[in-house]
Amino acid sequence: MSALRLDQLLSRYGYCSRREAVAWLADGRVKAEGQLLSRSDQKMKPEGVLIDGEPVEFPAGLLIMLHKPCGYACSHDAAESPLIYDLLPPRWMRRNPGPISIGRLDRETSGLLLITDDGALSHRLTSPRHDVEKCYEVTTSAALPAGLESLFAAGDLMLRGENKPCLPARLEVTGGHTARIYLREGKYHQVRRMFASQGCPVTALHRSRFGQLSLDGLAEGAWRAVGVAELG
Ligand code: URA
Repeated sequence: MSALRLDQLLSRYGYCSRREAVAWLADGRVKAEGQLLSRSDQKMKPEGVLIDGEPVEFPAGLLIMLHKPCGYACSHDAAESPLIYDLLPPRWMRRNPGPISIGRLDRETSGLLLITDDGALSHRLTSPRHDVEKCYEVTTSAALPAGLESLFAAGDLMLRGENKPCLPARLEVTGGHTARIYLREGKYHQVRRMFASQGCPVTALHRSRFGQLSLDGLAEGAWRAVGVAELG
């Protein structure tokens, strides 16, 4: 990260406003290498700065995975509360840029959701050209018909309102009403619409993998930091 004025640094990472930074610095809350930092116009790299004795959080940018529970909307609009952002430390909402989800899961879908403050990374991972495989565990109200694997694998399933067919998708049927589907794209409500188009409304949907990443025992509602190298 490049050096920033300390008042900019404190507000960029969500600690306080630039105006409040003057008081934070005067109160001795900001240090580096054991020295108090008191001038708001002093430029520092965030790595190595301690605020109330703690290193600046995610100085190189935020990247986490959240185990999204059902019932939370992937939105910043408070009218849609509860929001996935309610599950994260409030300070992160004051970062600038602030956190955004990498793609979305429906309110009633649970599972692995990546969240970042890096718009370019989000764009890259959601672009169809990037080709990240996502895995979903599906439960349906109707019994799954025979031949669904080859139908989804053919790459010619046209969903209502779309002008291109779904890309070939791998399906593993795991029970009479349960399956695992691997997608390399993310049309609106795609999994629900694919199964509904075959007379099988989805009653539960959970994303278990995003590329190489899996939840690996992360509790529902909990998050953990992700290293960029883990994205593969
Ligand atoms: N497909 C859906 O239908 N819903 C999701 O949340 C994700 C994929």
